[in-house]
Amino acid sequence: MMAADSAENTLTESNDDILSPDDLSEVLAAGTKESHDKAENSPFVKDFLRGRIKRELFKLGTTGLYHVYSAIEEEIEKNKDHPMFAPLYFPSELHRREALAKDLEYFYGEDWESKISCSAATRPYVDRIHEVGRNDPVLLVAHAWTRYMGDLSGGQILKKVAQRALKLPPTGEGLNFYHFEGIHNPTAFKRLYRSRMNELEVDAETKEKLLDEANLAFKLNLDVFSELQEIGKDIKEEVQDVGFPAHGDMGGDISK
Ligand code: HEM
Repeated sequence: MMAADSAENTLTESNDDILSPDDLSEVLAAGTKESHDKAENSPFVKDFLRGRIKRELFKLGTTGLYHVYSAIEEEIEKNKDHPMFAPLYFPSELHRREALAKDLEYFYGEDWESKISCSAATRPYVDRIHEVGRNDPVLLVAHAWTRYMGDLSGGQILKKVAQRALKLPPTGEGLNFYHFEGIHNPTAFKRLYRSRMNELEVDAETKEKLLDEANLAFKLNLDVFSELQEIGKDIKEEVQDVGFPAHGDMGGDISK
C-alpha cells in the first residue's frame, strides 16, 4: 500500500513531460517497432490471442517467465543503487517473481519447484540477463523495459484470453502474473517509467547499446515463443476457440 502510494505521488512529476525522438523511451519504442511486430505476429502469440492455448503449454510458458523474471529481479536487486538503474527500481509495483511462483504453485502443486526446469530456449535469455547484470548493468534497463512495459501494455488482454480459454477461476488463481497489485493506473505508471528512463544520463553510444539490447531481448522472447509453439504441436488437448473476434485489430490502445 505504502509503495503504491509513493509511486502514485510521484506521478505528478511526469504530467507535463514532452517527449522528444531522442528520449531513451522513444528511441527504444521506435527502434523495436519491427521486433514488436514480429512478436505480435509470431504463431504462438497469434494462437494465444485467439484463445488457442493449451493448459500444458500455458504452464510451460509460465515456467519460462518464472526463470526470466527470477534472473531479471535478482540482477535488479544487485544493481538497485546503481545510478543508471536506481530511478527505475519499483519492486513492489513491478516485480513478478512472487506472482509467478504463486501461479506455478497453483498449476503444479506445493512441490512445484521440483517439477519445473529451465527450457533450452529460456536458458540463453536467463544467461544473457545475468551476464548483463554482472558486466554491464546499464543494459538491464533494456531488459526491464522490454518485459515490464510490455506486460503493462498487453497484459490485460492476455489475462482475459487465458482465463476464458483455460477456464481459470475468476478469483485470478493461475493469473497472478498479469495482475499488478501495486499499479492502479497502468497508463500513468508507464508515463512515470518513461520519464524516469528519460532522466537517466545516457550518451548517444549507450542509447545505441540499449536499443541493441532491447532488440536482443525481443529476439530472446521470440525464441521462447518458437520453442513453445513447437512443443505445442505434440500436446494433445481439446481447445475451444474463445479468443477475441477476428474482425478489426486489437484496438491499438490496450492500456496506453
Ligand atoms: C507496448 C500490444 C506483445 C513489448 C504495447 C502497446 C500495445 C501492445 C497496444 C502500447 C503501445 C504504447 O504504449 O505505445 C501488444 C500485443 C502483443 C504484444 C497485442 C501480443 C500479444 C509484446 C511482446 C513484447 C512486448 C511479446 C516483448 C516481450 C512491449 C513493450 C511496449 C509494448 C516494451 C512498450 C512500448 C512503449 O513504452 O512505448 N504492446 N504487445 N509486446 N509492448 Fe507489446
